[in-house]
Amino acid sequence: MSLKEGIWVVFFFFISFINYEFIGQIKEIDSTNHDQLFSYWTNSLYQGERNVINLTCPPLDTVRIAVIGLGNRGQMALERLPKIKGVKVIAIADIDSNKVNSSFHKYFEQFEFFKPDRYYLENDWKEICKRTDIDLIYVCTHWDLHTPIAVYAMENNKHVAVEVPAALTVKECWNLVKTSEKTRKHCIQLENCMYDFFEISVLNMAQNNKFGELVHAEGAYIHDLRSLNFSKTYYWDFWRLRNLQKTDGNTYPTHGLGPLAHLLNIHRGDRMTYLVSMSSKEFGLSKYSNEKLSDENIWKGETFTKGDMNTTLIRTYKGKTIMLQHDVTSPRPYSRIFTISGTDGFVQKYPINSMSFSPQSHRTLNGDQISDTILKYEPSAIKNIKQKAKDIGGHGGMDYIMDYRLIYCLQNGLPLDQDVYDAAEWSSIVELSKKSTKKGSIPINIPDFTKGNWNKVNKVTYFLK
Ligand SMILES: NC(=O)c1ccc[n+]([C@@H]2O[C@H](COP(=O)([O-])OP(=O)(O)OC[C@H]3O[C@@H](n4cnc5c(N)ncnc54)[C@H](O)[C@@H]3O)[C@@H](O)[C@H]2O)c1
Repeated sequence: MSLKEGIWVVFFFFISFINYEFIGQIKEIDSTNHDQLFSYWTNSLYQGERNVINLTCPPLDTVRIAVIGLGNRGQMALERLPKIKGVKVIAIADIDSNKVNSSFHKYFEQFEFFKPDRYYLENDWKEICKRTDIDLIYVCTHWDLHTPIAVYAMENNKHVAVEVPAALTVKECWNLVKTSEKTRKHCIQLENCMYDFFEISVLNMAQNNKFGELVHAEGAYIHDLRSLNFSKTYYWDFWRLRNLQKTDGNTYPTHGLGPLAHLLNIHRGDRMTYLVSMSSKEFGLSKYSNEKLSDENIWKGETFTKGDMNTTLIRTYKGKTIMLQHDVTSPRPYSRIFTISGTDGFVQKYPINSMSFSPQSHRTLNGDQISDTILKYEPSAIKNIKQKAKDIGGHGGMDYIMDYRLIYCLQNGLPLDQDVYDAAEWSSIVELSKKSTKKGSIPINIPDFTKGNWNKVNKVTYFLK
């Protein structure tokens, strides 16, 4: 063989290798692309007599909403909700009259939208729940009021959508479940992270069997909230800081856990059985309060119970594991981790996107290949509303998709994407992680809020009419 022929042979093998390593992976994942996650509803799908798995309620032409709590989240909701076709905001409420009036002026007065009634008193949410011209109570207050308002709303014949976490104790979780079962009203937790474009495509990929059997998942809420927590104006009455002062464990589990729970089909074929949890000592808040606050600040020199980093490990009935972290007091970039490891593939969102598939699993696909894959598996139902979601916004569009899906399902009498069992399971981690942490990281059982019905449907499905 001449030198020239030899160079050609080496070049040919090099090109083949590149094809095998990179293009081969893309070809493999391009071969199927089905919308497995979204499916048309048929009434024959499992509907229990007493439980509320796949609960359907009569369709609502117009969804008449009351928004309670007009702080950061409530006002963001008012920016979105009136723009969804078929929505009428009937009432808005907050104990801060400035927020009520300024929201009214900002989001309603200068637009064509229906002008909502305004409420200002501490217990006005009860009056609102008793009204007969409202279908859905949308709760955006601080945590302590989530379950009390949700339960009262359902007892007064209203559906309820409640910010995260929906409950703070296992008793509250049971209360939500029992009330939804008794009243046959929807109780949905407003877990928006399910609908981020990356997460929802990965869920669709998993349902297309791209990762094989899912084995392990990791999620988190890592968000440096120190300056916001100590701000005199950001959170009403320092409610978030007060919580960190009195409690340990994972105080905000749902953004990390929600998307993983749907990937693992929790209470749709599997269930979380027990957890162990461990917290670091508290360092960050006292350092911040000692070094950054003036001597006159009421928080100067205060002590806090919440350890900076909490790590919780959860095992499922089918032997899958979940690692969940919570840290809102360290100088770290925002992260929900969002890692999935299966028998055939791997994906991770934070701190940088990474994705690989067997057998070329030693190296991640590059950024363009990952973006292409995510786009490829984006469900059509999401593609159709993506531009509007981005235009209207709310965490880049996922908040709009969450609201849109909620309203779409209510208007069409469909089961909601998240149910009361999701709300209870994910929120129960607040108290259970605290308990395990306090008792030296002992295993703690996670209740089966479905009371034995976790295996009646075999996968997560979001429904279409
Ligand atoms: N899903 C997300 O991405 C996301 C992001 C941030 C916050 N949240 C959640 O949203 C909720 C609200 O957070 P926020 O940042 O808007 O807090 P916030 O402090 O800005 O708002 C809470 C509001 O509740 C009002 N309020 C207090 N008592 C009331 C009562 N009796 N009746 C009516 N209103 C009352 C307060 O005046 C305040 O305006 C929390 O549960 C939080 O965990 C979710």
